[in-house]
Formats: sequence, structure tokens, C-alpha cells
Amino acid sequence: MVSSASPSSEIVGLGSYVPQKVMTNQELESIMDTTDEWIRTRTGISERRVADVTEGTSDLAVAACRDALQDAGLRAKDLDLMIVATCTPDYFMPGLGVLIQNKLGCRPIPAIDLRGQCSGFAWALSTADAYSKMADYQYILVVGSDLQTRILDYSLDGRNSAVLFGDGAGACVLKVKKTLGESQPSGLLDHILGSDGSGFSHLMVPRPGCQANNSSFISHNDIDSKKTAPYMDGRQVFKYASYYMEKTVTELMARNKLSIDDIDLIIPHQANLRLSKILKTKLGIPPEKMVSVIEKFGNTTSASLPLCFVEARQSGKLKKGSLIITTTFGSGFTWGGNLIRW
Ligand code: ACO
Repeated sequence: MVSSASPSSEIVGLGSYVPQKVMTNQELESIMDTTDEWIRTRTGISERRVADVTEGTSDLAVAACRDALQDAGLRAKDLDLMIVATCTPDYFMPGLGVLIQNKLGCRPIPAIDLRGQCSGFAWALSTADAYSKMADYQYILVVGSDLQTRILDYSLDGRNSAVLFGDGAGACVLKVKKTLGESQPSGLLDHILGSDGSGFSHLMVPRPGCQANNSSFISHNDIDSKKTAPYMDGRQVFKYASYYMEKTVTELMARNKLSIDDIDLIIPHQANLRLSKILKTKLGIPPEKMVSVIEKFGNTTSASLPLCFVEARQSGKLKKGSLIITTTFGSGFTWGGNLIRW
């Protein structure tokens, strides 16, 4: 069983935000060369949310943070630290965290940006947990926010990615616990993180950037040749995602001496319903232990896990005491997962 030998943190507030505008597969059919049938059978997605032009990634994040703070019964001024995951920040510089810190009205707390793409929220939870053990923080805000629809290529070249992504944000307020040696430890219990940069070119946004052999940050040619949109070799990504998402769950269970019977919920990153189904079949996970929001939100990158937490709580699947495993995979390649007692 999992044990608690040092201070850890527990989730005391949960929030999310998705933009009002719904884009259905049928609407995509009318603007690009795709079909509802292809999207649903290959990905499980029926619709996704699209941010209004008046909204930026920080605005999605702030709405989710307010929701999480209200849920925790706290004010922004109560926060001591913020960890923010995104791969679609408002600006290349500064990061997203400082914008959220200012818009929320926090004290001058550290607002740390973290990459990790679709693994961003799992990485951010583990980072927050590590901080909770080493510094005198009481409340830590963990945020995942992404606005992918503004960088997608809706032409034939980009259609394998354009149909997958949606916009959204989620946030958790963590409270650092000082009690040690509980008989049934709760909160963030364990984490697994990994990366393999040899796979970076299989899923990337090539430009803008400061790579070698490019004299400018961005050029007209970069825009004209659509290098500012995500490029994805879907089959390669799928292969690695299914391997690492399963490995993360099995490793978290093995090193905590747990079996699927002990776990109440498996929350996979929402990249493709087929990936979740493979995980379910390979590990023999009963359907009631899986959470899915991909049908209505698509792949919301770093917001994917918290949107699942919210869905699970609303549907009554997530209760106090539930033992949860998250598992993610993203551009990089990156992967990760968390073991959480709610
Ligand atoms: N509509 C219609 N046809 C399409 C579309 C589309 N939107 N996109 C691709 N096709 C066509 C292709 O052109 C190809 O046609 P062809 O056979 O005539 O050449 C055919 O469909 C098959 O294309 P594939 O790319 O091989 O399709 P696949 O079955 O692999 O599904 C998909 C594509 C859904 C992208 C899948 O590969 C996938 O989900 N990959 C994993 C994505 C993922 O896990 N991402 C996680 C991280 S995301 C992040 O970190 C930000």
C-alpha cells in the first residue's frame, strides 16, 4: 500500500472553463475536407469548444482558477504558489503564469510556467507536490490552459490535427498537509514522469522559434508555408502514446503494490478514444472506472485531466476517498501520471 513519510498535498478545490462556442464535426465538414464519420470513428470526438476572439489562453485559465478558488472557499490572495501548464501561451515572453497571477489579483507569488504539452497537467501536479515538501507553502494553484484552435491548419495538410483539438482550462487548488503517518494517506501520493526528445519531430509546431539555421524568429515564408501550425505524424504518436500510457499505469500500480481492483478511477489524457479503449482492454479496466470527455471537448492538451476530474465529480464517479491514476502522453515526447487519493 501507499505510505506517507513526508508532507504532501491534497486537492481542496477543482475548477474548469470551456468557451461557449461549440464546433461540431458537421461544422468542420463545411470548412475543410473531412467527415463526421471519419472523425468519430478514428477519434471518438463529436464536438469541441472554440475560444471567442476576445479570449486568450490566460482568460480561459483565469475563469477556471476562479472556479477552483470558489470550490475551495478561498480567495486569490490566499495562494502561495502557482504552477501553470500550457503550450499555447498568450505571449512567447513573458510566460502565462504572470498574466494569471495579475488578472486573478494574487499576491506577488511565484507563478511558474511549465511545458510538457499534453502531459503538462500531470507534470504540474507532481511539481506542485514536490514544492509542498520543500518550502513553506500552504495553498498551491495548479493550472492547465490551452487554446489550440487558433494555431490549427484547417486545410488538407493539417486536417489530421485540426479535427482533434479544442480549447479549455482546468485548475486545482492544493492544500499542503502537515500531518504525517496517516493510516490511509490522501492527496497526491505518487508520480511518474518521463520524456524522450528523440521523438520531438513527430508532433511539433516548427515555427516561430530560435532554432539554428533560422536567422529570424518568424518569417513571411513560415506563415505562408503553415509552419506555425502543429505538424503531427499521427501513427507514430499513437504507437508511442499507447505504449507509455499503459506503462505509466502499470508502473504506478506496481511500485505502490496496487491492482486494478484497488483503483476507483483511471483518468487518461483525452487524445483519442481509441487510445483509452486500448488501455481499458490491455489492463482489464471495467468501463465504470474510466473517465472520458473527448466526445464533447476533443483534445484540450493541458486541460484534459482537470476537465475529466470535473466530469467525474459531476457524474458521481469521483468521491472523497477515491483512488485515482492519471496517465498522459504528449508532444516531446512526454508522458506522466499521478496516483491520487481524493
Ligand atoms: N478527415 C478525413 N480523412 C483524414 C483526416 C480527416 N480529418 N485526417 C487524415 N485523414 C486521412 C489521411 O489522409 C489518410 O488517408 P490515406 O489513407 O488516403 O492516405 C487516412 O485518413 C489515414 O490517416 P492516418 O493519419 O494514418 O489516420 P489514423 O488512423 O492514424 O488517425 C489520428 C489519425 C486520429 C490523428 C491518430 O493517428 C491519432 O490519434 N494519433 C495520436 C494523437 C495523440 O495521441 N496525440 C497526443 C498528444 S497531443 C499533444 O501533445 C499536443
